[in-house]
Amino acid sequence: MAEMHFDALISLPPPAKYGGRHTVTLIPGDGIGPELLNHVRELFRFCCVPVNFEIVKVASATTTEDDIKYAITAIKRNGVALKGGHGHIVTETNHNLPPSYKSTNHVLRTSLDLYANVMHCQSLPGVPTHHKDIDIIIIRENTEGEYSSLEHENVPGVVECLNIITRVNSLRIAEYAFNLAREEGRRKVTAVHKANIMKLGDGLFLQCCKEVAAGYPDITFENMIVDNTSMQLVSKPQQFDVMVMPNLYGNIVSNVCAGLVEGPGLVPGVNYGKDYSVFETATRNTGKSIANKNIANPTATLLASCLMLDHLKLHAYASMIRNAVLKTLSETQLHTADLGGQGTTSEVVQSIMQEIQRGGPRISKRI
Ligand code: NAI
Repeated sequence: MAEMHFDALISLPPPAKYGGRHTVTLIPGDGIGPELLNHVRELFRFCCVPVNFEIVKVASATTTEDDIKYAITAIKRNGVALKGGHGHIVTETNHNLPPSYKSTNHVLRTSLDLYANVMHCQSLPGVPTHHKDIDIIIIRENTEGEYSSLEHENVPGVVECLNIITRVNSLRIAEYAFNLAREEGRRKVTAVHKANIMKLGDGLFLQCCKEVAAGYPDITFENMIVDNTSMQLVSKPQQFDVMVMPNLYGNIVSNVCAGLVEGPGLVPGVNYGKDYSVFETATRNTGKSIANKNIANPTATLLASCLMLDHLKLHAYASMIRNAVLKTLSETQLHTADLGGQGTTSEVVQSIMQEIQRGGPRISKRI
């Protein structure tokens, strides 16, 4: 897996404090989040990573407004957070929440202006998939679109749901995408939209992408309607390089791409803003049905922690953990159930630790 530093374009990491150690806000979240983040802590201790965690509890069922405010303050103080999935999923009991209700995830992202969600979706060694050689960077506008929670019922039986697209935010995400493509030596950016139907909203997004593309003649620009994109992704995903899109399409396309490389347990994701960065799994699943069973795949969460270490410029620690995670995935037959294996979460983490121990002297030299 190529090491990428998507953050170089946005935020500077906060300086290390207190004897060269960084402090990071840790939000365990719901479902499998707490157990997987405990494994991150265990692994960081094992590798002597110079990071302290400030644990802040935000979980969908119990969170109060004060908890969210506290979490936002903690992230502002530390600059960086690592979080487990938590969110508002519509169920039989909560679908009566008011339309203005915003998910805690959305409140965090907008309060901190984490405008770019980035996911690098790659075929991983040792993980058999239908399609090979997938290597796509998906950039999702993270603050507006349909997630603005602006819905109302005009008259009984008629609902309007607003999709907010602004020029300033569309230009900003397009600029991020092209800049990243250039930094990473990528050749093509595909803007995904539905401007043939939403001529004003998606039309504006597309127009902004075209304007930004004009400043990057070295990068091929193409645009694709979201329905065609879905079909192209499942039939010929290798044609995509960097993709940029509004919020909701970003969520859907990220989930499709995670499925292409074998699921939500494998792919890390990041939310970047100018001042703060929040690292998590790419598809933000909570995994409630498999929580506390010691069967969740820890890969996505561990790789998210490696992206975070890269952001903190702790590259040697990031490489040490990332290499061990990928080696365990490819060389041992120890896979969790989502990959068709019988390994438990803790067995996989143990195997990663053994791999790190085996690489000991070579790795400590690099540090
Ligand atoms: P979920 O947690 O039920 O996950 C879907 C499936 O993937 C389940 O079968 C689960 O067991 C499996 N899975 C997830 N992580 C795994 C792991 N590490 N190891 C093994 N299996 C794993 O999904 P949830 O929480 O109901 O979310 C569904 C979708 O909703 C997500 O894909 C996400 O895109 C979206 N969502 C969005 C949020 C947001 O703030 N925008 C918040 C939460 C979810």
